[in-house]
Amino acid sequence: MSLSTARLDRFISEHCRISRRAVRLMLAQKRITVDGCIADEIGQRIDKFSKITLDDDILQANQALYIMLNKPIGVVSATKDKLHKTVIDLLDEQDVFFDGLSEQKESLHIVGRLDLNTSGLLLLTNDSRWSERLTSPEHKVEKCYRVTLKNPITDNYVDAFADGMYFSFENITTKPAKFKIIANKTTDQVNEYIAEVKLIEGRYHQIKRMFGRFRNPVIGLHRQAIGNLLLDDNLATGKSRHLTDDEVLGIFTKQQA
Ligand code: URA
Repeated sequence: MSLSTARLDRFISEHCRISRRAVRLMLAQKRITVDGCIADEIGQRIDKFSKITLDDDILQANQALYIMLNKPIGVVSATKDKLHKTVIDLLDEQDVFFDGLSEQKESLHIVGRLDLNTSGLLLLTNDSRWSERLTSPEHKVEKCYRVTLKNPITDNYVDAFADGMYFSFENITTKPAKFKIIANKTTDQVNEYIAEVKLIEGRYHQIKRMFGRFRNPVIGLHRQAIGNLLLDDNLATGKSRHLTDDEVLGIFTKQQA
């Protein structure tokens, strides 16, 4: 799905139910603006976020939305679900935050789902160009996960994640993933086995299946970052906020190794 564009004259003609000839006259009379500038080209392309006015009446003004949610365990990454609470239900509970944008919530989609029992950074947007860029493997945007495991981690995990694993069901080999041991402790008091994994793709249950190769069950999975964007420490579980303009663009800046 890409952000499609349309011709301005066609949009006005359909929106106002007038002929394209009449639109041409309006353009010549400088009565139409696109994003605050007077439009004078009939073939000008617009998209769903272009603000269009005619004689100061707003014909279209869709705001691009970019939202960060701290997803709790037990909430489903979907817009509708019969059984579980969805991430959209969580946004609904914070209506004040959206302040008049409630109808635009319908236009949101999820950028890279998390499993029901995965927590952490989830992004929602109505800008499909942005979400495509974030999720398509050729852009290599890293998703960083903190993984808590049932059993100790051994040294051979690093190479296995870097080399990729063959999944026969999809007939694919996973792209090189970065693997770092955060904790690997077995004591009388506590066992703690935690890794950080960075993926540039998002296959079905990918992390759980990769650790499945070592028969090491994942007992906790939390997404900490997407590209340069870290989950906001001040965002309590279940809470969300709009991204800043810097975050929307900065998320793509090349990551450090
Ligand atoms: N890998 C998984 O197994 N689950 C997720 O939710 C994300 C990555």
